[in-house]
Amino acid sequence: MDKKFYIATSIAYASAKPHIGNTYEVVLADAIARFKRLQGYDVYFQTGTDEHGQKIENKAKDNNQEPKEYVDFVSGEIKRIWDTMNASYDKFVRTTDKCHKDVVTKIFNKLYEQGDIYKGEYSGLYCTPCESFWTESQLVDGKCPDCGRNVIEAKEEAYFFKISKYAKWLEEYIESHKEFIEPESRKNEMINNFIKPGLEDLCVSRSSFKWGIPVSFDKKHVIYVWIDALSNYITFLGYNPDGENAELFNKYWPCDLHLVGKDIIRFHTIYWPIILKALDLPMPKKIFGHPWMLMGNDKMSKSKGNIVYADDLVSEFGVDAVRYYMLHEMPFASDGNFTTDLLIESLNSNLANTLGNLVNRTITMVNKYFNGTVINRKVDIDKDKEFFDYIDTCKTTVFEKMEILRVADALDALFDIFRRSNKYIDENEPWVLAKDENNNERLETVLFNLLEAIRIGAVLLQAFMPETAERIFSQLGVVATDFNNIETKESFTVGESEVLFERK
Ligand code: MSP
Repeated sequence: MDKKFYIATSIAYASAKPHIGNTYEVVLADAIARFKRLQGYDVYFQTGTDEHGQKIENKAKDNNQEPKEYVDFVSGEIKRIWDTMNASYDKFVRTTDKCHKDVVTKIFNKLYEQGDIYKGEYSGLYCTPCESFWTESQLVDGKCPDCGRNVIEAKEEAYFFKISKYAKWLEEYIESHKEFIEPESRKNEMINNFIKPGLEDLCVSRSSFKWGIPVSFDKKHVIYVWIDALSNYITFLGYNPDGENAELFNKYWPCDLHLVGKDIIRFHTIYWPIILKALDLPMPKKIFGHPWMLMGNDKMSKSKGNIVYADDLVSEFGVDAVRYYMLHEMPFASDGNFTTDLLIESLNSNLANTLGNLVNRTITMVNKYFNGTVINRKVDIDKDKEFFDYIDTCKTTVFEKMEILRVADALDALFDIFRRSNKYIDENEPWVLAKDENNNERLETVLFNLLEAIRIGAVLLQAFMPETAERIFSQLGVVATDFNNIETKESFTVGESEVLFERK
């Protein structure tokens, strides 16, 4: 088995504080990264911020700040939110870092020297006061989306990347690598809507703004976003277009999983593979386009005033309630929905009722009937076979679903362990067993089995809700283990029962 696993999220624009929708991606990536680590993979998880471009230059100006000062602040905010969500990234990158800029410059020069980049003319719709080019689809009511004024047709000298030269190769590559783009609906969309109608060369420089990496041989141009932004996946690993690559690059490239939103899947499945092909580098293994989180079916936007921030939700509901919502309530391919009411509903029913109650009831009974210590007495264990077989099946399902990135389904199968355990309490009625001394050893067996089921569930839960898993381990009086060491225990000495989730 290939034991390394490189997972990267897209890098967020350092133009504004990220909302809950942008935050979803890093939480999804985190659950996958943690799961792989617990499986024994050597994981490298990269995320970070995309800090160049006109929009950021304009925002800094509006704020009376230098662009660098502005992105330092916003990037800090993004990192703070990723940390609040307990994202276990190995590296948080920033495209304004010198090491990145140097390599991007070399990449651009190499592509230019080998004839893949050429000078041409860019024409588009231009807003003079904002000094910005827009595409037809970006306009709002035919006007500049930033200031609302009229735009004019304008032209400027620019460099282009010969995408067309690689179009045929790309189509064949995608068709012959079934797992390259997922979900499948996204793959079909890329082929039918973009590749088949014909790919146009990509404009890769601008001279209408300054905040970017300069083209080293033509200083009035800056490298326009995608070559700069996409290259982050290799520059920070120590890719060197002109010589030896660093150890990290040799170890982790190609990326095993690019996790990106549906709006930028096109850049990752068309431009990124073509850039890599032109650089003669291996292709990433998989690009997964996740759906969007909508606010009660609406896009989140400042103008609609419906933006929700993850850190506000965390202060109110706790980090794992938010993680659970993102990981469990978001569909695999179609857009999901967020409302505070739905979050509260999922917190109350799945977390407080199913999981919180189970742990609380079990620990309370172990303390009440056995002063906190139970040994596996193995009394009437044939009665428990179906229970443990079921837990085993759930465990297998969790692994199968994670393998195909069905994170919500995996979490569902995991919670089946907790649901089944609650049912096991009802079936065995420990409080009835406790009335008769003769049933003491059976009662101890039942409670032991429950603790064991909760422990197995908590080991799996670490990937999705790490803080909660830790709190469960501490109540159970056990240490965390990875998935390869879930060996059976013989006894438990539990701690005090503690409420895991407050009902709202
Ligand atoms: N900077 C580019 C990516 C460059 S990658 C080389 C960018 N940044 S972004 O900040 O606009 O978006 C970051 C990620 O958040 C993207 O994957 C985007 O699809 C995702 N999302 C933005 N809004 C979202 C939702 N409402 N829901 C889920 N994901 C969302 O694009």
